[in-house]
Amino acid sequence: MEIKKVAVVGCGAMGSGIVQVVLQSGYEVVAREVDQAFLEKGLEKVKASLEKLVKKEVLTEEVRDATLNRLTGTVSLDSLADCELIIEAVFEDLQTKIDLFKELDMVCRKDAVFASNTSSLSITQMAASISRKERFLGMHFFQPAPVMPLVEVVKTISTAPEILQKALDFVKSLGKVPILAKDQAGFIVNFLFTPFMLDAMRAVSNGVASIEDIDKGMKLGLNHPMGPLMLADYIGLDLIFNAGNVMFEEYRESRYAPPPVLRKMIMMGYLGLKTKRGFYDWSDPKNPKPINLDA
Ligand code: CAA
Repeated sequence: MEIKKVAVVGCGAMGSGIVQVVLQSGYEVVAREVDQAFLEKGLEKVKASLEKLVKKEVLTEEVRDATLNRLTGTVSLDSLADCELIIEAVFEDLQTKIDLFKELDMVCRKDAVFASNTSSLSITQMAASISRKERFLGMHFFQPAPVMPLVEVVKTISTAPEILQKALDFVKSLGKVPILAKDQAGFIVNFLFTPFMLDAMRAVSNGVASIEDIDKGMKLGLNHPMGPLMLADYIGLDLIFNAGNVMFEEYRESRYAPPPVLRKMIMMGYLGLKTKRGFYDWSDPKNPKPINLDA
């Protein structure tokens, strides 16, 4: 089975980026959202991103049009029946993902490969809940997907070697670099990086240094594109909180436990860039200002 038509389920920040990457690599894409309003918002993101590339003269209008002609949007799962690969990028809730995969298992062609873009939830638990366990794996893209070159490919003890190879080849066909991880919470990157962000938060609340100086330290001292607190805002503090909890649950090591300051920020609805407030005030997204966390 050759992969020609790919479904991306969930067209939010990650999903729309994945749709763009897969489309631009020449595949037919079906983007699925739960309702028409979410779907239109997601498709609009893809169109706006391609439009920017036309303005920058990276794409011609003809290529943009041909690219968009390969894209269809749907709110129904039945429309994914003939896709050879399904990439799930819905919100990070294990039961939601399991329920979705159970439905997809009934609707999709028997030889289709299923991949979850989860950053920390158990691939094994999702695979175990459906019949095609050997055709299931993790395919974890990074934000923003059109820019970041890495994809973690995550295998379970049931993933068939030829399916794993198919996934690695597919990732390479997107112009991305795959790395192979076993299914353990956080895989490779978040396993190492989440405690680093949580430590930066602990450093702020312990008064080690200011938000700005911690971020400057990592940016200028280690040449990171963003400091850990700004990146945490960029990713979404709720996602980091949930990922930390999943990893703490699995490893029982205190470095994965979200610190109180993060819990309080979540309670207040400070989720980072998407709510315009996190460790920074993002009212002007081009000029984020550190907030005052003194109680
Ligand atoms: N979609 C498409 N293109 C985008 C984009 C987006 N959402 N955001 C930025 N870009 C493009 C810009 O158009 C620009 O392209 P050109 O160089 O061709 O002009 C390029 O990326 C650089 O963008 P900017 O000039 O606007 O800004 P920048 O140089 O500061 O880069 C950044 C922005 C790429 C986000 C950079 O700051 C960066 O790499 N930050 C770190 C990102 C990171 O670590 N991501 C991983 C998060 S962890 C994760 O995703 C996993 C998880 O499980 C949560």
